[in-house]
Formats: sequence, C-alpha cells, structure tokens
Amino acid sequence: MTKTKRKNIVAGNWKMNKDYSQGRNLVKDIVANIQSPDVTIILCTPFIHLYNAHVKTNDIAMLFIGAQNCHQEESGAFTGEVSASMIKSTGAQYVILGHSERRAYFNESDELIGQKVKTAIANDLHPIFCCGESLEVRESKKHKALVEEQVKNALFHLSAEDFSKIVIAYEPVWAIGTGKTASPEQAQEMHQHIRKLIEKKYGDKIADATSILYGGSVKPANAKEIFAKADVDGGLIGGASLKADDFIAIINSFS
Ligand code: PGA
Repeated sequence: MTKTKRKNIVAGNWKMNKDYSQGRNLVKDIVANIQSPDVTIILCTPFIHLYNAHVKTNDIAMLFIGAQNCHQEESGAFTGEVSASMIKSTGAQYVILGHSERRAYFNESDELIGQKVKTAIANDLHPIFCCGESLEVRESKKHKALVEEQVKNALFHLSAEDFSKIVIAYEPVWAIGTGKTASPEQAQEMHQHIRKLIEKKYGDKIADATSILYGGSVKPANAKEIFAKADVDGGLIGGASLKADDFIAIINSFS
C-alpha cells in the first residue's frame, strides 16, 4: 500500500487548556506562522473556542476545527452536555471520540463510544477515533488484541460509506503526556495491524484511504521519524499543540 493516496494529518488536542483570551492568542499565532503545507491541520479545542477558531481560520484551506467530545444523544435533558449538532453549528468539522482520558476518567465504554461515533457522523462530523493500550496490557503482549477489540466494537457497525469518514488515532496510554513515545517501529506495527483489520472488514480501497495517526508525546524532535513510517499518516498532538512554534514545527516535519 502506498502512502500517497491518503491524507497526512496533524491534529492538536488542546485538552482542558487555554482560557478564552489564551485560546484566541494561540489561534492567532498559528495563523500568523503557518506555511500552507500539504498537510491537513485540525485544531481540537475546548468547546468555548470552536466558533472563534473556525472564524479566524476559515480562509486557510487545509485547516479545520474539531471538538474533543460530544454526547451520544441528539438533544434533550442532559444538563452540561454538548451535542454533535451544536458542535457542527460552530463551523467545526471533526470531533475526537474515545480518547483514553475519557475512557479512564469518564468511564466511556466501546459501546458508548460507538454510539457517539454514530451520532457524530449523522451530524456530518468526522470522528477522530482514539484507541490504544495501557502499559500493563502491552507488557502482557495483549496490545494488538485489545486495540483490535476497541476498533471492532466501536467502529465496525458502520457502513463502508460512514467508515470512510473516520480518522483513527493510535495512542498508547503509556506514551500520553509521559515524554515516552512508542518507537517508530512499535507505531508502524500497530498501524499496520489496524489497517489490516480495516482491509478485512471494508476492503483494501477503504483501508488504503484511512488516515491513521499516532499520538503520545509527539514533539518537534521525534515527529519526522515517526511520520516517516509507511502506515503512520500524521499525529494527534497534546502538549506540543499548546505552543504555536512546536505545533508548526511538527506540521513542517512532513516537508
Ligand atoms: P501528548 O498527548 O502529546 O501530550 O502525549 C496526546 C494525546 O493525548 O492526544
């Protein structure tokens, strides 16, 4: 399979960082310094920034805005929650679903994440679906089986047409925010495994077109060698997406 057929993507996951004025400044700094690369860029911000980030980046063709979660229901009495259609109405086009922090701290199961995926797609959002194993699971060598289960349980109910709207992010939990990255070989091995699963279920055309991102302590210093692997199509960036210089350096590591 060649790499050229699918999109390279660098997505920033701001997590629960940046108040309104800090977020505006970060968007401003990114816009001022971006060099129209041949990479799709997605800023996944807290909800309060979505609209402003969309308005301020709307004329950059390769840059899109995303949220970090949505509710599985369309609307209703769910105090404090935000729906997929609300996210869409801000101009955002993506939503991160199934991040390991949501699985761990908010008890999100594969089944719930699968419902959110469905609702997001029904509202014309592209899910950035996260999967990945803990250190314990990797050490017991069950990481491939676990990721396989996560992908199958949350995504394989989708039609081929809907599946083609998904971006996948492989994020080993032990590499998130720890400064410890998977080696490029470990990332490649898992990405290839995921692509094969997709191929088996949806065929090689869809498998070949699905962007699979790596996430977990990606920095300007290590992005290039990770992104160079055949099945790694970019990254989901946490800490390093909070500084415009670092984020742009990671984007530029594709050139
Ligand atoms: P990190 O986070 O880059 O800070 O490790 C990645 C993520 O959780 O998406």
